[in-house]
Amino acid sequence: MISCEGLVKIYKTEDLEVVALQGLNLNVREGEMMAIIGNSGSGKSTLLNILGGLDRPSAGSVHVGPWDLLKITDEQLVEYKRDTVGFIWQNNARNLLPYLSALENVEMPMMLSSKLDRAYAKQLLEWVGLKERMHNKLHQLSGGEQQRVAIAISLSNRPKMLLADEPTGSVDSRTSDMIMDIFRKLNREIGITIVIVTHDLSLAGKVDRVVAIRDGLTSTEFIKRNPNIDADGNISLSQHGKGEVHEEYVVVDRVGRLQIPKSYLTALQITDKASMEFDGERIIISSPKSLEG
Ligand SMILES: Nc1ncnc2c1ncn2[C@@H]1O[C@H](COP(=O)(O)OP(=O)(O)O)[C@@H](O)[C@H]1O
Ligand SMILES: [Mg+2]
Repeated sequence: MISCEGLVKIYKTEDLEVVALQGLNLNVREGEMMAIIGNSGSGKSTLLNILGGLDRPSAGSVHVGPWDLLKITDEQLVEYKRDTVGFIWQNNARNLLPYLSALENVEMPMMLSSKLDRAYAKQLLEWVGLKERMHNKLHQLSGGEQQRVAIAISLSNRPKMLLADEPTGSVDSRTSDMIMDIFRKLNREIGITIVIVTHDLSLAGKVDRVVAIRDGLTSTEFIKRNPNIDADGNISLSQHGKGEVHEEYVVVDRVGRLQIPKSYLTALQITDKASMEFDGERIIISSPKSLEG
């Protein structure tokens, strides 16, 4: 569904260039529900905005389904955003109309694309657990309920993939669980591909795969080994110990580059060079041997 290779995004301001993505690689299969996790400023929103057609990539390649987002025309981009992508933000106020009911809010984008389908709008609100509240005005709903209306709206044009930028960032943990359960149900029932961006590690147990992003590059990947253990929410992202859910892998790109965590480099006082040995089974990276010895 999604394939990024060497994706670069540079923001140019008057006297400054910010390289937000510096050659990022990412593949997401159709029907997958995955998360991209990284600290603030690591490039998560930049990536999601490019995938959602809200921003243009600077270089590299990025394909979503049949679309090449580097070569796509402005006209095609409008079609792409309408037919392929559903978008959810942390702050959903920007897509909601407070004095319309939940149902009218969901029907609005359908009317704008002249595909009003009231039965489907009701079905969507039922899926997000708002069957009883669909005739309430938006401003009468709680923040968590409004976020669920936003999820229903994002699906109103039957997109093939759902992009969620910190979707649980401003709700309590109970609502956060509920939102993640809704994503899972949608993923199972309509097979929609879901990419969630977050800095919240506790969401990791709720998805199939986690890709860590650091300084605009994907660095580490966690793949769920036993999807049945995630109920307690106590997941450990290490490879050690019992009961953990994810297996950790370091991402190796096409030309063999990998990113070593800063803490490892600091511990070994590696700055710009390291020694590397291959013993037939393992590759060992260590501090450069002192030449003066
Ligand atoms: N419109 C912009 N203009 C200039 N710099 C930007 C812009 N948007 C993001 N950046 C910079 O790009 C980097 C990545 O930002 P962002 O993708 O928002 O990270 P995240 O979502 O992981 O917090 C940051 O250094 C940020 O300051
Ligand atoms: Mg962000």
